Amino acid sequence: MRIHLSYSILLLCLFLTAGPVHAGDPEHGRELHRENCIKCHASMKNGIYGKDGTGIYVRENRRIHSLEALYNQVRRCKTSLGAPWPDSQIEDVVTYLNQNFYKFEE
Ligand code: HEC
Repeated sequence: MRIHLSYSILLLCLFLTAGPVHAGDPEHGRELHRENCIKCHASMKNGIYGKDGTGIYVRENRRIHSLEALYNQVRRCKTSLGAPWPDSQIEDVVTYLNQNFYKFEE
């Protein structure tokens, strides 16, 4: 009985801290992005996208024009690196990129 009770409390705590299902964690996204994405973008075209490569997200002729397209592009880029990420990590990076660069309405 006691075990059951502590499990319920634990589950309740997890539930309360999980927050809205669709909001990714932009700080985790920033970290994932730093570790996995910057190097390649920064090395493209003699570094025209800047040292952190983020110029590619705000370039004049950028290719991404919707949140959906952003998801797809992050998935594609990530998959080209190796194993795909779980959706939660894609979500975190998309949230980071959208809040800082793309600013599409959610
Ligand atoms: C091996 C190289 C490589 C890696 C690693 C990489 N990308 Fe890319 N990424 C590209 C290339 C190449 C393009 C641009 C293609 C073009 O110019 O049409 C691109 C474009 C993009 C764009 C679209 C930019 C625009 O035009 O709006 C996004 C968003 C993006 N990458 C996200 C990511 C994320 C997030 C990661 C890390 C998970 C990542 N990329 C890792 C090569 C890479």
